[in-house]
Amino acid sequence: MRTFEQISALRTYLRGLRQERKTVGFVPTMGALHAGHLSLVQRAKGDCDVVVVSIFVNPTQFGPQEDYSKYPRDTSRDMQLTSNAGVDALFLPTNEDIYPAGFQTWVDVTDISQPLEGVRRPGHYRGVATIVTKLLNIVQPDIAYFGQKDYQQFLVVERLARDLNMPSTIQMVPTLRETDGLALSSRNAYLSEEERSAATLLSRLLSLAGRRVLEGVSSAQELRRELEALVSEEPLAALEYIELANPDTLQPVENLEEGLTLVVAAIKIGKTRLIDNALIAPEGMASPRPRVSRGV
Ligand code: PAF
Repeated sequence: MRTFEQISALRTYLRGLRQERKTVGFVPTMGALHAGHLSLVQRAKGDCDVVVVSIFVNPTQFGPQEDYSKYPRDTSRDMQLTSNAGVDALFLPTNEDIYPAGFQTWVDVTDISQPLEGVRRPGHYRGVATIVTKLLNIVQPDIAYFGQKDYQQFLVVERLARDLNMPSTIQMVPTLRETDGLALSSRNAYLSEEERSAATLLSRLLSLAGRRVLEGVSSAQELRRELEALVSEEPLAALEYIELANPDTLQPVENLEEGLTLVVAAIKIGKTRLIDNALIAPEGMASPRPRVSRGV
């Protein structure tokens, strides 16, 4: 595996690959890698000739009360994991190169950044959209991969790629889960043993939503009440939100019979904030395929 800190060196390497007509898959990360990230890498390896992973803990997507300085960092472990996974190139840019003195250009994806996480984490998606735009400009991949766990992030990236005429395809990869349903996340490392077992609440809630809509529950309000009741039974959980939303616009839906619905939740388990989501559909509707947006 090659590692690059300098943008110019990575560009020279990528130019060589393009001359050989190799396709490039790209997995942007903030490190603290786990099996979920590696499933994105596996998908990229299946689709593309060469796989590039970036690790950059992006300061501009953390709010003032968030865990930027405490975010888990272990570059040598991440290098071992990516190398074992067959990654071809690891990009480890420096803060100074990504945000040089005088930096003042931001990417703001206005509407889709507003609801859900946008309400609770103001400025978060502006930071995400800016860093992802920069990374896509640097790597110029054929396909860039993002996990479904942050569904709203995927929509933000899909939108910016379209709006800014980026040629890369933006591919969603299904969330990887532990056997008891907990979605893999770097933040799971903060959970105590007791909190870890309480954290299955999120996936239990999503399964209940899926089951109830199949059983014919059509009122989003009724279903939301049931889901909130399940959360209130767990003493370690503090609910931030559960929403039943249109999967394209993220606007709340009222009638679950009309098509695919995104059920999405943010819940604090102890001090750790976890998010998860699933697409649910009434009986007779095909289950959705992972979302993909072709480059334009
Ligand atoms: O999902 C993440 O890890 C980050 O938000 C991303 C896409 C790497 C941007 O910093």
